[in-house]
Amino acid sequence: MPKSSNAFTGGRPAQRKTAKGGRRSGGASGFGRLLLGVFLGVCLSAAAAVAYFYFGKSPVAVSDKPALWEHLAETVSVRRRMSSEAKLPPFPASEEVFEAAAHIYRNQCAVCHGVPGREAAVGRQMLPHAPQFFGRDRRETSAKAVGELFWPTAFGIRRSGMPAYNHTLSNTQLWQLALLLHSANDELPDPVSNLLIATDQQPVQAPPVVLPLRETAKVPRQPLDKSHLAPTERPESRF
Ligand code: HEC
Repeated sequence: MPKSSNAFTGGRPAQRKTAKGGRRSGGASGFGRLLLGVFLGVCLSAAAAVAYFYFGKSPVAVSDKPALWEHLAETVSVRRRMSSEAKLPPFPASEEVFEAAAHIYRNQCAVCHGVPGREAAVGRQMLPHAPQFFGRDRRETSAKAVGELFWPTAFGIRRSGMPAYNHTLSNTQLWQLALLLHSANDELPDPVSNLLIATDQQPVQAPPVVLPLRETAKVPRQPLDKSHLAPTERPESRF
């Protein structure tokens, strides 16, 4: 055994150093392996998610079983948002309010949400189903706060087929509708019920979506205000 080795290192200290060094390099490579594992795991999960959507494996048909994420988005997120942003109605319910709402409901909502005594087959064939406010879902509807019924009517519900009406109905009309729906489980005055079921044996009509477009078509076009754009960005230079 060389003398210097005995003099400077000696048996145990030299071993400890080696052992320490060994531990350090083993720890580093262990951590590296862990990082690599996490990275590969993330990549594989991302690839699996892309494949799931790309190859059409996500539930897209109404008859498909809803995925867990759809259920969570629909029940948890939507409900949370509706209740957290619910406001109080600016006026109370009255027969006039109900009558005004019944007119709109009949024309714009009944096709999906049904009327007293008649559920909408179209709405039942959507996923999520359009609640039948005056039918099987009347109790649940009335149990909601007025503001919770206003919110989805005004802003719509993504990926559900529920349109947003805040651009086609006024705030007053939206509140009138919410107040009417809130009373869906109550005995409504006869004129209101008659308006709701005023079908004259005609089938429920689809919402008159062309009406607002025709109205806006009559409004003379305003020239676009492009003063905020730099001259090079102004679109007219291209036309
Ligand atoms: C094209 C079909 C369709 C039309 C038209 C429609 N809705 Fe809906 N609506 C739906 C669907 C589907 C849902 C269920 C969405 C969900 O549960 O995520 C819904 C949900 C709602 C909700 C939430 C109910 C709840 O229990 O959470 C309200 C309130 C509502 N609609 C009001 C209206 C009103 C008022 C109108 C008319 C101005 C209207 N809807 C027109 C399809 C429609």
